Amino acid sequence: MSILIKNGHIVDPSQGIDKKGDILISEGKVARIGGTINTKAETTIDASGKIVSPGFVDMHTHLREPGDEEAETIETALSAAAKGGFTTVSAMPNTHPACDSQAHVKFLQEKAAEAGLGNVLPIGTITKKREGEEMSEMQELKDAGAYAISDDGSSVADPSLMKKAMEYASMVDIVVISHAEDKDLVAGGVMREGYFSTVLGLRPIPAEAESTIVDRDVRLAELTGARLHIAHVSAKESVEIIRQAKKREVNVTAEVTPHHFTLTDEDAKGYDTNMKVNPPLALAEDIEALKKGLKDGTIDVIATDHAPHSANEKEKEFNYAPFGMIGLETALSLSVMNLIDKGILTWPELIEKIALNPSDILGYEGGTLKEGAIADITIIDPKAEWTYTEEEIKSKSKNSPFIGWKLKGKVTDVIAEGKIVLSGVK
Ligand code: DOR
Ligand code: ZN
Repeated sequence: MSILIKNGHIVDPSQGIDKKGDILISEGKVARIGGTINTKAETTIDASGKIVSPGFVDMHTHLREPGDEEAETIETALSAAAKGGFTTVSAMPNTHPACDSQAHVKFLQEKAAEAGLGNVLPIGTITKKREGEEMSEMQELKDAGAYAISDDGSSVADPSLMKKAMEYASMVDIVVISHAEDKDLVAGGVMREGYFSTVLGLRPIPAEAESTIVDRDVRLAELTGARLHIAHVSAKESVEIIRQAKKREVNVTAEVTPHHFTLTDEDAKGYDTNMKVNPPLALAEDIEALKKGLKDGTIDVIATDHAPHSANEKEKEFNYAPFGMIGLETALSLSVMNLIDKGILTWPELIEKIALNPSDILGYEGGTLKEGAIADITIIDPKAEWTYTEEEIKSKSKNSPFIGWKLKGKVTDVIAEGKIVLSGVK
């Protein structure tokens, strides 16, 4: 199968390409890139007026399979991913059971291959069953094909266990993804502490619930030499801790979600449980810090924390609803509107943070359009305006606060491993 993409504006930060050109795909690989290509291909895609990017790589996705298939399956998540331009998603291990064995890693690989809509990068747990008691078998997880380890959904509360885990992870050479949250400081809170938590009468979560653990884990990475990645940074204090750690050349990277740079604590005003996420939506001053962090390179990655929950689970009082919102289908538009249009990031910088950097951090060979690379490609209409409706959501769960929003920037075509998985979206 050969595909020729004509007349697009190619943006590939891995090769410093930011100009018009054609791309030829053959046998699942990028065969040629740049200039005018007149080779005959089985399929031709006209990308005039569009941006042609390496396929996006989401390093923070909750697939919910196994265990919570009423909320999402690997297949529905991959179809939501394709709609959002992601050709690769990771599989956060907080499923039921948690991903702490070779058999589980193999299960994910097989399910993803069956769906045939993109790639899944399994992430193993840091501790067995994600219980925070005993370290999981990291070497085995890595040998089976896990790209990282994380107890995401909660922190490893015991600092001495986290230290030991980082020592092992550093030997095994696998990245540790930290969900930074001190449960004692959260103390049953449901939204970020501030003026609005007081006005709304909702139990507050102080910023320090996040930043104290970011500080702890950065120091443990400094001590052990482990590769540390901080998930879903939301507090300005955390940004500053990471910025200083990078100056000291600590092996740390960080991500921010589109919902954290788009929404604030004030958005919880309507008690919409789709606004309930962990970490909670932050204050306006935090959002400024997150954007500065994206701009100056303190924050390396934009990741979705796509967290599907069924309507049943979310239709509860704010205090009792689970944390999380879906995000794969809106990530690009929110990035265009809040980062590109606001002059925070250029297109090459955005694509670096949504495709190249996550690949590099996980040690995955994607995020690039180099000749010979896997043909994972996302084509974007940067000017398209559209309204996000519930009917078009590909994810099995519809827990998005962005339904009804006018969005800008749309994914029109996606090629995953040389196969067209989305095409001609208007
Ligand atoms: O909002 C969130 N939802 N944050 C997390 O850390 C976990 C996730 C989930 O699994 O629902
Ligand atoms: Zn998390």
